[in-house]
Amino acid sequence: MKLNIALLAGDGIGPEVVDQAVKVSNAIAKKFGHEITWTPALTGAAAIDAVGEPYPDETHEICMKADAVLFGAIGHPKYDNDPSAKVRPEQGLLKMRKKLGLFANVRPTFTFPSLIDNSPLKRERIEGTDLVFLRELTGGIYFGEKGRRDGGETAYDNCVYTRDEVKRLAKKGFELAMTRSKKLCCVDKANVLETSRLWRETVQSMEKDYPEVTVSYEFVDAVAMRLVQWPNSYDVLITENLFGDILTDEASVISGSMGLMPSASVGEHTSLYEPIHGSYPQATGLDIANPLATVLSAAMMFEDAFGLTAEAKAIRDVVDKSLAEGVVTEDLSGKNKAYKTSEVGDWLANHI
Ligand code: IPM
Ligand code: MN
Repeated sequence: MKLNIALLAGDGIGPEVVDQAVKVSNAIAKKFGHEITWTPALTGAAAIDAVGEPYPDETHEICMKADAVLFGAIGHPKYDNDPSAKVRPEQGLLKMRKKLGLFANVRPTFTFPSLIDNSPLKRERIEGTDLVFLRELTGGIYFGEKGRRDGGETAYDNCVYTRDEVKRLAKKGFELAMTRSKKLCCVDKANVLETSRLWRETVQSMEKDYPEVTVSYEFVDAVAMRLVQWPNSYDVLITENLFGDILTDEASVISGSMGLMPSASVGEHTSLYEPIHGSYPQATGLDIANPLATVLSAAMMFEDAFGLTAEAKAIRDVVDKSLAEGVVTEDLSGKNKAYKTSEVGDWLANHI
């Protein structure tokens, strides 16, 4: 099969972790007889430095023409510490999500048998956790009108959702629940927020179309607590943009390291695969970041974008093997030897 993939490495550790996912994907392509064409393109602070814009039109064209996008990370401290910056790398990510119509962000949380004791949470709480967040990605407070008034003394960010936006996300949630344990949790704050009441009302109205799915409705604050207390009680969770951003970082603690969890963003145009972690500026260029979240994002890409399940499984299997054999970066190595980012990538590629 011919696979045409746009490669958006971005900022910070993005290029380093993406390099390992490319090595692994190329090894898979060789083993299974596929031909991958990688088309690199600029995003984030790297794109601002080069062309003054974090998601240039040329990059968008490349993404639109590709079969899938593999993405690293976006963000640079020089913008974080400058609230007055007019152009920010993160705007590139938001623009990309919006222009590609990536309204659903699929973020699984699972545990690895060999890493259970790496989690700060007790083994008996987290063993067997296998849940998926579907985070709405192109609406809500991220995209509502924002600004300042009263001479800059008052700031506002509006949270806006339409029924259709909720419906299309919830539909994916119901469909996903049907392929799993048929349990769906709608996470909202309907006791306070009008947008949450629209969410709840919309999801309730869809229940009749999926009679086999058991739906629970839970407030986001309670979910934040239960998620680390009884992660096993959840399967598919649907939620709005900001709640999903926060809860998925929290959930990554269950797996033992933020450097482990992959994600897929899907919607109207080309799907995008990216680790859930950020650009980790302190580690940039040091060859120490964990590449597994990006490697596992590539596995999601083989499976979802190309329907290549054996290829995806081969990636997951070799990742499991590397973890079991202790071929891990410093976030996971404890007192044992820490491997470099590139060494982990080489090991995975060689063992495929
Ligand atoms: C994520 C990130 C982004 C988000 C940032 C970098 C804009 O935290 O993908 O979760 O908030 O969506
Ligand atoms: Mn986030």
